[in-house]
Amino acid sequence: MSPVLNRRKFLTYLGTGTAALAAAGTGLDGLVKTAEAKGMFHQSNRLKKPKYGPLKFTPIEPSTKDELVLPKGYRYDVIASYGDKINPKGDTFGYNNDYTLFFPMENKKDRGLLWVNHEYISDLFIFGKTIENGYTAEQINALLYNQGGSVIEVHREKGRWKMDPASKYARRVTGLTPIALTGPAKGSAAVNGAVKVQGTFANCSGGRTLWNTLLTCEENFESTSKAAKLDQTHYGWVVEVDPFHPDFQIRKHTALGRFNHENTCMGLAKDGRVVVYMGDDKKDACVYKFISKEKYDQKAGKKNAKLLEEGTLYAANFAKGQWVPLTIEAVRKKAGGNSALLEKFKTQADVVVNCHEAAILLGGTPTDRPEDVEISPFDGTIFIAHTNNDKHGNFHGHITRFYEKDDDHGAMEFQFAIFAAGGIQNGFSAPDNLTFDEDGNLWTVTDISSSSINTAIWKPFGNNGVFVIPTDGKQEGEAFQFASAPVDAELTGPCFTPDEKTLFLSVQHPGEETANLANPTSMWPHRKDDHMPRPSVVAISGF
Ligand code: FEO
Ligand code: CA
Ligand code: CA
Repeated sequence: MSPVLNRRKFLTYLGTGTAALAAAGTGLDGLVKTAEAKGMFHQSNRLKKPKYGPLKFTPIEPSTKDELVLPKGYRYDVIASYGDKINPKGDTFGYNNDYTLFFPMENKKDRGLLWVNHEYISDLFIFGKTIENGYTAEQINALLYNQGGSVIEVHREKGRWKMDPASKYARRVTGLTPIALTGPAKGSAAVNGAVKVQGTFANCSGGRTLWNTLLTCEENFESTSKAAKLDQTHYGWVVEVDPFHPDFQIRKHTALGRFNHENTCMGLAKDGRVVVYMGDDKKDACVYKFISKEKYDQKAGKKNAKLLEEGTLYAANFAKGQWVPLTIEAVRKKAGGNSALLEKFKTQADVVVNCHEAAILLGGTPTDRPEDVEISPFDGTIFIAHTNNDKHGNFHGHITRFYEKDDDHGAMEFQFAIFAAGGIQNGFSAPDNLTFDEDGNLWTVTDISSSSINTAIWKPFGNNGVFVIPTDGKQEGEAFQFASAPVDAELTGPCFTPDEKTLFLSVQHPGEETANLANPTSMWPHRKDDHMPRPSVVAISGF
């Protein structure tokens, strides 16, 4: 192990501030673990008992190889790559795969549907050149087609996972697909009267609903909507899709707000209302939660989708430990005599469309790029990846843990701790997507931007990776590296099968820093006779 990366037992501390975070980020000592501190909201009601036990792999070292490096005994199968045919109709797999979500098929252990997000494209690898003077109509079409999502059918044969291109379920959802709006902004002036909009793109991460549909999140939608001359207010939403049923109307739930959505994580309040936690991946942006008006009814199945049409959206005020409701009444009251604000915010539709502005106005705390948010299946605490924010010296990011009052996702008060901080003391930088395993470990992938990888202060980390962090016990908060990405790539969308024997993972933007097509910086997945790297989804086995 390289001396600079010797991992020290990490420190958790209550409260935060730029100075404390900068100290944690640079590995200074002097902060004490106070997770059990006096006054902490305790998360006593274990929902599910973790198995614990020692790590199931020998951690790897940071690597700069153009390969997906895994611990000894683990292997990966490439399931689908950009451009692959996914169904008999000839639809093709989009570019820059991100979030993945596995839906097992009933009574079949080794077969299921895999939803995959496609976040953005590469002009160089799709058009063969960089585009400077605007796209042609044909290029716009490709720009929109290669974003959105794919439903693919996957199966395991003799131990190896593969895509089934003969699937009758496989299909594409793209920037060209008609999508309905629901909720307060539907048909409103704030979205220029739209009840249906064209397509979804910039699909970053997402989440599963309690009724087994998926939510895919529109993140950095601005450049695509501008290039395609589409209405900006029609993007930046959470979109619901049912992978098994093409007749389920794909819908954007405007009640969940419009911002640079990273993902969603759904839970239940103690009184049965649905709660959705969400991050807004921007520097100085807020953490949100939505609470439905009506209660979840398990028997109602997919009719529960209605719950996402009406409710209250809240932003987190970290200084007060409070969830602030984002209502038109509160905004107008706060606006006082400010006529520009009163003109902009007239109805709840204006609040959801201009969500970030309303949240900051009402006291939502600007934070360091809140990306993935996940609820621990073991104690109900909420983990938030704050990727980084160079605006105030948080270069390596941190993972925040929320403790809701009375263990209730419907609570209006919370406390929080910094669960783990990025930096050389912990071996990782820029935590992004999160998931849990049955041992109570938090898995995080990292997102050091491709232009920073292996340069300056990011050099010790090598390429981006996957890290495993115990959430309890002696090694709580310590990070162990499980995977290292190919050159320039980011690993995204980790998703375990229910038996945790397979981990689906996206390898996004390998070779992104390529300037000359004749000499790409990466050739992963190293397909025979290929001329370029390809974003691909893999299935990792060996667990
Ligand atoms: Fe698309 Fe926030 O990563
Ligand atoms: Ca992400
Ligand atoms: Ca990211």
